[in-house]
Amino acid sequence: MGIAERDFPCYEPAPMDRPQNIAKPEGKLAVLLPGLGAVSTTFIAGCLLARQGLANPVGALTQSGTIRLGKRTDNRSPKVRDFVPLAELRDLEFGAWDLFPDNAYEAAVSAEVLESRHLDPIRAELEQIRPMSAVFYPEYVKRLNGTHLKRAGSKADMVEALRDDIRGFVKAKGCSRAVAVWCGSTETYVEPGAVHQSVAAFEKGLLNSDPGITNSMMYAWACLKENVPYANGAPNLSVDTPAALELARDTGTAVSGKDFKTGQTLMKTILAPGLKARMLGLSGWFSTNILGNRDGEVLEDPESFKSKEVSKLGALEHILQPSVYPDLYGKTYHKVRINYYPPRGDAKEGWDNIDIFGWLGYPMQIKVDFLCRDSILAAPLVLDLALFMDLASRCNFRGMQEWLSFYFKSPMTAENLYPEHDLFIQLMKLKNTLRWIMGEELITHLGNEYYD
Ligand SMILES: NC(=O)c1ccc[n+]([C@@H]2O[C@H](COP(=O)([O-])OP(=O)(O)OC[C@H]3O[C@@H](n4cnc5c(N)ncnc54)[C@H](O)[C@@H]3O)[C@@H](O)[C@H]2O)c1
Repeated sequence: MGIAERDFPCYEPAPMDRPQNIAKPEGKLAVLLPGLGAVSTTFIAGCLLARQGLANPVGALTQSGTIRLGKRTDNRSPKVRDFVPLAELRDLEFGAWDLFPDNAYEAAVSAEVLESRHLDPIRAELEQIRPMSAVFYPEYVKRLNGTHLKRAGSKADMVEALRDDIRGFVKAKGCSRAVAVWCGSTETYVEPGAVHQSVAAFEKGLLNSDPGITNSMMYAWACLKENVPYANGAPNLSVDTPAALELARDTGTAVSGKDFKTGQTLMKTILAPGLKARMLGLSGWFSTNILGNRDGEVLEDPESFKSKEVSKLGALEHILQPSVYPDLYGKTYHKVRINYYPPRGDAKEGWDNIDIFGWLGYPMQIKVDFLCRDSILAAPLVLDLALFMDLASRCNFRGMQEWLSFYFKSPMTAENLYPEHDLFIQLMKLKNTLRWIMGEELITHLGNEYYD
């Protein structure tokens, strides 16, 4: 029996009907993180500091964002968190799995993202967060070699062990509900196959330990079975398969993905819509990065990089619509490179060379040099996703949550839809969804009511 079946009232509207009766965020929310590395520890540390008033959770829409309601003359712009019923930071309980046994303090120290002035005040709390042992078949992440692993007969047994972990954590911490955000490594590229086509095929594949079933798919399956909403921060297929979506529908569980939108892709989906809005042409966009964290090391493996590359390349194509604008974007050359360079650690540097053309075809260039910090950009996304996925669950939304595309490099969409990559359209979609959930008028920006 899943957590929800035990602890939640069960509403029965059709998927994405406007919720009439949103359950209040009462009790504690378990935030379950497969992978206790740079992003997870930065996220957890930030939440612990913020709830003690020791730091600001900058970058999280749920904490700082506002939402305009009604007309511009109404002057109604509450904070997002005062408008929709979200879990409070003080009610979050953090759980994780990793193939290394380091507690969250040790993992944060080795990730080298946060300085001791941020880690010292919360050291004791971080040390209490010890990862549960991982489901880890090394063929899907070639560069890691951990010791803190589950031993079980088949992949089906692994899923059961993860389900036990989920139930055990929720019970031990006295939580009323849980959400999961995948913060584990990027896996090797996997094409969807027969085993991913239905719940029945997948369940059989689990029993046979089918090689098409990766580590992240087992975590996702366990979460869906336990009715725990699952957000996918990596480009791994995970919940983006017909089987997982069928199970999500059957169990009434929300899913979202894939791959946190940070760094270079964030910049791309900010800049490209602007160039397109002005109908400026694009002959080429060359992106290269150096980074030296464990994520960068994993991405050295060509098979893991392939997953990332597929996820990163899609954005421009969908924003620019070369088939609609062949003269402007029909011949765009787009290249993405990631280079592992240990001296930089988590402080990534991303260069973009953008060759554009304007009036009469005259060429121009834009150079972007983004000295960013990967996990500092990703941590607020984990928080927003955890809180919004929990909201989705209390609204009884099931299956793919396209309104959370704002957070992802490679947004999941219904089969016959192209993904929306434009950051500003994504934000409008997210905020309109919140207005819709709360029965407020949607904002179209038409604005003719202000003029005679
Ligand atoms: N930081 C960003 O800006 C960003 C952006 C987009 C996506 N991501 C993705 O987020 C994920 C986390 O990034 P990170 O920088 O924290 O990486 P990281 O390497 O520091 O942490 C990942 C952790 O996951 C663990 N892990 C791997 N497989 C596991 C398994 N099967 N079970 C449990 N734990 C497992 C690893 O041991 C490691 O500790 C990566 O997939 C990365 O590609 C990060």
